[in-house]
Amino acid sequence: MAVNLEKLFPREYVRNDGVTLNIYQAAIGDVGCVVWDAALVLAKYLESADFLHGRLLQDKTVLELGAGTGCLGIVAATFGAKVCITDLESCLPLMQMNIGENHEQITGKIEAQILDWNSHDTLTSRPDYILISDCIYYSESVKPLVDTINRLCEPHTIVLCSYEERTSGNKPELQRHFYELIEATFNVQEIPQNHQDDFYHSSDIHIMKFTKKS
Ligand SMILES: C[S@@+](CC[C@H](N)C(=O)[O-])C[C@H]1O[C@@H](n2cnc3c(N)ncnc32)[C@H](O)[C@@H]1O
Repeated sequence: MAVNLEKLFPREYVRNDGVTLNIYQAAIGDVGCVVWDAALVLAKYLESADFLHGRLLQDKTVLELGAGTGCLGIVAATFGAKVCITDLESCLPLMQMNIGENHEQITGKIEAQILDWNSHDTLTSRPDYILISDCIYYSESVKPLVDTINRLCEPHTIVLCSYEERTSGNKPELQRHFYELIEATFNVQEIPQNHQDDFYHSSDIHIMKFTKKS
């Protein structure tokens, strides 16, 4: 469903140093038209000591998959990263709008592009980081998502993937399938909660770090 830009409501993202972003969400559209909690938890982790409170992102190349509103990637760009946020075509106008609305806070570079995990498009960027939040969500997309991560990941790339653990329906099976595929080619490590933001963490939201097996 195309995101309808006529009915929008903003969500403030306040960095720990007070820099404030306004991320617009759409009242009508698919799941990508709102900011999900897993995105906030991962964005706040980018502000943690592990990332030198965001400074580690300066000049780093960042690719976000399934970006939705673009919140996570936009936060990275406010710390000086060179970011490409991607999603299906239907999300492009909302991502572009959110980039425009926050341009004064963006100290790096950012662009929005269409990237469908079912296509085999390659991007020119050789990402230092691939960011993914709450995308282990659709049974038909688990393999295309893992294939996309494999295709776009360089040997040096760090993948950070956050997701909310869901216990209903087919979600546990879907998450198990995702790990089965990802563990074939990646080392998998969970970021402990005591490395995450003091407030923006939750026992059912996981941040995982994947690095390519050599
Ligand atoms: C639950 S939303 C999460 C959005 C955002 N990452 C967040 O956490 O706020 C899942 C996202 O995956 C995107 N998505 C689903 N299937 C996709 C596909 N085949 N290719 C690219 N993106 C896809 C959706 O459009 C949506 O933006």
